[in-house]
Amino acid sequence: MVIKELLLKGSGLLKQNPNSNPSLESQVILAKLMNVDKSFLFAHIESEVEEELEDRYLSFIEKRKNGYPLQYLLGEVEFFGYKFKVREGVLIPRADTEILVSYVINYINKNNLDNYRLLEIGVGSGAIILSIAKNCPNGKLIGIDISEEALIIAKENQDNLSISNVTMFKSDLFEIFLNKPNKEEFDIIVSNPPYIDEEEMKKLQKEVLYEPQIALSGGVDGLMYYKRISLSARDFLKSGGMLAFEIGLTQGASVRDILYDFGYRDISIIKDLEQRDRVVVAYKD
Ligand SMILES: C[S@@+](CC[C@H](N)C(=O)[O-])C[C@H]1O[C@@H](n2cnc3c(N)ncnc32)[C@H](O)[C@@H]1O
Repeated sequence: MVIKELLLKGSGLLKQNPNSNPSLESQVILAKLMNVDKSFLFAHIESEVEEELEDRYLSFIEKRKNGYPLQYLLGEVEFFGYKFKVREGVLIPRADTEILVSYVINYINKNNLDNYRLLEIGVGSGAIILSIAKNCPNGKLIGIDISEEALIIAKENQDNLSISNVTMFKSDLFEIFLNKPNKEEFDIIVSNPPYIDEEEMKKLQKEVLYEPQIALSGGVDGLMYYKRISLSARDFLKSGGMLAFEIGLTQGASVRDILYDFGYRDISIIKDLEQRDRVVVAYKD
C-alpha cells in the first residue's frame, strides 16, 4: 500500500474508538514507525511502504482501535516541552500537571531559593521533578515512588535529560526517611498523588485501565494520600516550607480542609487556564 492508502485505512479503523483522533493519530503512528516527521508523509504520500512496516502499522492501529493508549504505543509523551519515555507500568503524565510544575518553578524563582531542597512523593515517569530540576538547576531534589517499574522509567528520563541533581528512591511515602540519624528537611514537598475515588475507579475510560491502578486510586473518597502526606510532610518541611498538591477538579475544598486540620497556614487553591481548581498549596509555620 502507499502512504495515502495506509493513512486512510488507519483513520477509518480508528473511527471505531470514540476516544481517538483518527486522522491525527494514524499520521503520528505511521510517522513514528517510519522514524520521520509527519511532513515527510505528506511529501511522499504516493510512496509505497514495505510490507513488514505496513503490518506493524496495522497492528498498532488495531491496538489503538481497541483503546490502548496512544502514548504507550509511541513510547513517549511531551510534557513541559520535554520528551518523556512512557510504557505500561507508569502513569502517562497529563498536560494538566504542568500547572503544578509551573507554580513550583515560579515560587523557586520569585523567592530566589538558591540551594533549595525539594521532595516529590510519587514521581511516576519523573515528569514533575525532572521538569523542575531542568528549570531550577540550583537545588537538590529527591523523588520517591513505591513502584519499581516507575522508578526505572523515571531514571531513564533523568538520563535522557542529563539531570544530575535529582536522586530517586523506592519508598512507601516517607518510609525511607524514618529512623535516619540526620533528619531530612525540605523547602518544598510536591505531589500529584493518586486521587480517584472508589466510584470513579469503576467508571474509568478504557484507555486509563491500561495505566497502573496504584497511580490512580486514592481510596474510598479519593483523599487518602492527601491526608497521609499532609500529616507526615509537617515533619519534613522546614519552617515556612511549602506543600503543593495537584488535586482532582472537585477536591479543592476537601484538600484545603485537610491542610487546615493539620495546621498548615496560607492555604490557597490555584486554578488552571479554564478556571478549574487544579493545585492546592499551603505552608508550614
Ligand atoms: C498520579 S501518579 C503521578 C505520577 C507523576 N508524578 C505524574 O504527575 O505524572 C502517582 C504516583 O504515586 C505513586 N504511589 C502510589 N502510592 C504510593 C506510595 N504509597 N508511596 C509512594 N508512591 C506511591 C504511584 O506509583 C504513581 O507513580
